[in-house]
Amino acid sequence: MEVTVAKSAGFCFGVKRAVELVYEEVGKAQKIYTLGPIIHNEQVVRDLEEKGVQVLHSVEEIEAGEDATVIIRSHGVPKKTAVALQEKGIRIVDATCPFVKKIHNIVQAKKEEGYEIVVVGSAKHPEVKGTCGWCDNQCHVVETVQEARDCPLDKQKKVCVVAQTTFNYKKFEDIVDILSKKSYDIFIMNTICNATEERQTEAGTIARKSDAMIVIGGKHSSNTQKLYEICKAECADTHFIQTLDDLDLKLFQSFRSVGITAGASTPNNIIKEVQSYVRQEH
Ligand code: F3S
Repeated sequence: MEVTVAKSAGFCFGVKRAVELVYEEVGKAQKIYTLGPIIHNEQVVRDLEEKGVQVLHSVEEIEAGEDATVIIRSHGVPKKTAVALQEKGIRIVDATCPFVKKIHNIVQAKKEEGYEIVVVGSAKHPEVKGTCGWCDNQCHVVETVQEARDCPLDKQKKVCVVAQTTFNYKKFEDIVDILSKKSYDIFIMNTICNATEERQTEAGTIARKSDAMIVIGGKHSSNTQKLYEICKAECADTHFIQTLDDLDLKLFQSFRSVGITAGASTPNNIIKEVQSYVRQEH
């Protein structure tokens, strides 16, 4: 049997880097903290907890001067959080995804140049909260076309528009169309990351040429659900599993080619486990 694993399966570059940075820190300081869970995957967070990594929810939980390392996750944090951490005098490992850091730098610089800042994204998302914190929260957050219409911009003022990295591209275009009519001088930076799109495109391509497809990910993970739908449309024998335990190998016995992909929060070891299991049994 031919088994094809999607190269883009599982963690994106930024999350992979953040998780690796946490594992590298284990044992290096008396206490290791992450500010918020490093990833939305219970197994990974539990495994790290067993290795002594604690999840904190605010900077206040850290005592000044303690022998500790705090890791900032890939979403990034507002500037005031970064400063508050520095003031605690502890070691900081900044695992903010470089693509997110780039957005922080843009909004900070453009704010200083006198631009009005618009962040296209969800105000509730930690990444957007972080971004807003790099231009003193003096920005407009726009998530819908209606919010773009209602956004109070001054035609004479320079405007800088950035996007949440996981924002939908089509929606971003629609919003930008509206915002563009609201200023004579508008600087648009499409900061959407293509990791999700790449994962989806590759999943569809593999599903199309496979007899069966396995999609690995959390039951409640919306990006995994989306991957499943894409694969199912291309390959009738698509199976959604959380772990190896959900895999009924008998179902795969008659297939010549099987494809494997995984959602954004699925660790590599689970993907590998499924891959070798499918290979071994045939
Ligand atoms: Fe991942 Fe960074 Fe893109 S965290 S989704 S690679 S912006």
